[in-house]
Amino acid sequence: MHVRPALPPRGFTVGTAIVAAASLLTLCLVALPARAQTMTEKGNAAMAEDMTRMTRTQEMSKMPGTAMENGEVALPEGFREWVFIGAPLTPNGLNGGAAAFPEFHHVYIEPIAYAAYEKTGVFPEGTVIVKELVTLKSPEYDDGSRDEASGRGFFAGEFGGIDMMVKDTQRYAATDGWGFFNYGHHKPPYQKTAAALPAENCSGCHTANADEDMVFTGFYPILRK
Ligand code: HEC
Repeated sequence: MHVRPALPPRGFTVGTAIVAAASLLTLCLVALPARAQTMTEKGNAAMAEDMTRMTRTQEMSKMPGTAMENGEVALPEGFREWVFIGAPLTPNGLNGGAAAFPEFHHVYIEPIAYAAYEKTGVFPEGTVIVKELVTLKSPEYDDGSRDEASGRGFFAGEFGGIDMMVKDTQRYAATDGWGFFNYGHHKPPYQKTAAALPAENCSGCHTANADEDMVFTGFYPILRK
């Protein structure tokens, strides 16, 4: 069978190719920066809207972390969908069998507060940070580790408790601007509400040791400046 060699389409000349390439280049030069600018504008607009929403909802007392009439604060729903900032690990096996906060600490920050922190470098009033304790999956060694397909290490077992911080520099002035709450160090269901704890339970240690504004930002790569 005779196969015809592929020919360039009729009318296709070197001249056409140059014109086509030049038009493409112009299109890129004009269109791309315009697109980038639109995206930044969009980003800023979204941020402004979020900030307005934050102020508005704060006024409406609907922000997670807002104190109820009796002063207690409800454990926010849906915190596991917030921005995950890190997971410090203090296994019982490395802490005499009884770590103060066993064992993984899954830490989440409320997304609007995170966006504001990213922009300004300051935790805004109303910031809520939740630390959920997660026990280790059935340890095989004294240190709490076990062998898995990925290697010997520490693997998450069950949810095991909640600690929470809320920034409100007026209400919690006595504990350096943040309220500290414990919803139980046990498996869910957790307590639904909790009262702020005094300095000796929580904030004293944060005041003495935390990196920035009571938060251990040094353990969370996405919060580090
Ligand atoms: C002895 C010191 C100490 C005490 C007491 C303490 N914390 Fe912390 N807390 C830490 C350290 C260190 C971290 C970060 C590393 C980690 O989780 O192991 C942390 C992290 C947190 C975080 C995540 C945000 C952050 O700053 O890293 C929350 C929320 C928190 N603690 C709440 C509490 C609450 C609530 C109490 C009291 C029930 C409490 N803490 C008592 C030392 C302490």
